[in-house]
Amino acid sequence: MPELALLGGTPVRTKPFPAWPIWDEKDVEAITRALKNGKWGIAPPEQSEVARFEKEYAAYHGAKHGICVHSGTTAIRIALQALGAGYGDEIIAPAYTFIGTVTPIIDVGAVPVFVDIDPRTYTIDPAAVEAAITPRTVGIVPVHFGGCPCDMDALLAIAKKHNLWIMEDAAQAWGAQWNGTGVGHIGAAGIFSFQSSKNVNAGEGGIVLTDDDDLSELIRSFSNCGRSSQGVWYGHYRIAGNYRMSQILAALLSVQFSRYPEQHRRRESNARYLARKLAEIPGFTVLERKPPVTAHAQHLFIWRYDRDAFGGLSRAKFIEAMHKEGIPISPGYSIPLYKQPVFLEKSFDPKHAAQRVDFGSIQCAATEKACAEEALWLTQPILLGETSDMDDIVAAALKVRDNAHLLLER
Ligand SMILES: Cc1ncc(COP(=O)(O)O)c(C=O)c1O
Repeated sequence: MPELALLGGTPVRTKPFPAWPIWDEKDVEAITRALKNGKWGIAPPEQSEVARFEKEYAAYHGAKHGICVHSGTTAIRIALQALGAGYGDEIIAPAYTFIGTVTPIIDVGAVPVFVDIDPRTYTIDPAAVEAAITPRTVGIVPVHFGGCPCDMDALLAIAKKHNLWIMEDAAQAWGAQWNGTGVGHIGAAGIFSFQSSKNVNAGEGGIVLTDDDDLSELIRSFSNCGRSSQGVWYGHYRIAGNYRMSQILAALLSVQFSRYPEQHRRRESNARYLARKLAEIPGFTVLERKPPVTAHAQHLFIWRYDRDAFGGLSRAKFIEAMHKEGIPISPGYSIPLYKQPVFLEKSFDPKHAAQRVDFGSIQCAATEKACAEEALWLTQPILLGETSDMDDIVAAALKVRDNAHLLLER
């Protein structure tokens, strides 16, 4: 039996996985074009890289409007503002997500209501959503986590029944589809992130999509100092920041996005292959992809680890052994969002409505388990490799499993 690299043996792999970001002369040309154009900020529509990208990105998802901003977090903030979320409103969000999903809820004065995920998909559990609804609930922020669309049929039915809006956090889900419809405008609005780890990356950036003309106008206004498309330049109609995207960033984004369809196909194909292989290993459960998920963005490839099938080997030790074999897996989030210091210590305005929540008493079983012992993540650049790279991941996992007893004795 080959010796574990952790115990001094030869690693399964020493070759690095694909590097990220990917760029070439086309990116340089696009940035140079925007630079030479001399319109780095606001530009007339016919010269605007931002306007061009907004149209292209919205069309790719089948949405009517796209509004580019600085970041995904900002996109959520202005979408919530445009939807009218404000002081004391309750907004339901999953406990297993990046903090950027929830910070804007606090920022607009509303109260985040954390609910659990479905352990089979790690997306928000519709039954938990319905159970959390109170007379103060105004909306739901489902997260298409890792690029996997949430159960939008169930969520839309709940939203309709209780008269709530849905604002999709699709920060990790470019081009993902539920029943053939692009995410991000299945609810009232949705957002995407272009931060550097993301599958569509310009260092930073975000966009809001919506099919609603009035909402689009409001979102644009909240991104642009409270201006109105009908008003004069120095006419301001609401308190709002300047969250506009620069033309140089949009130029880079356009070239990055032009590579997306091909990269998406490759990630999908490698993810399906890897899922089939890992599913054959007892103790591993790859997250489910329900049939209505007609496209998965594969930002993260996630599977669940059962230490009992590995002779009691802890997830931390399994990960350490995999790293030594040359496989950069991660445990992902180690803390449920409601246990982050900012919530436990309520480090926000003492008069904020969310001060009434006892975050320390929240218990979301599937989230706790994912954080403490179960989740294993691979990040998206790994899925841009060859089939043989996927085989290395499987070979390393089998090697660690077969030698697990040696690690237990240490
Ligand atoms: C699920 C989720 N929501 C929101 C965000 C916030 O996006 P950004 O980092 O662009 O502000 C991220 C990004 O990391 C995310 O993964």
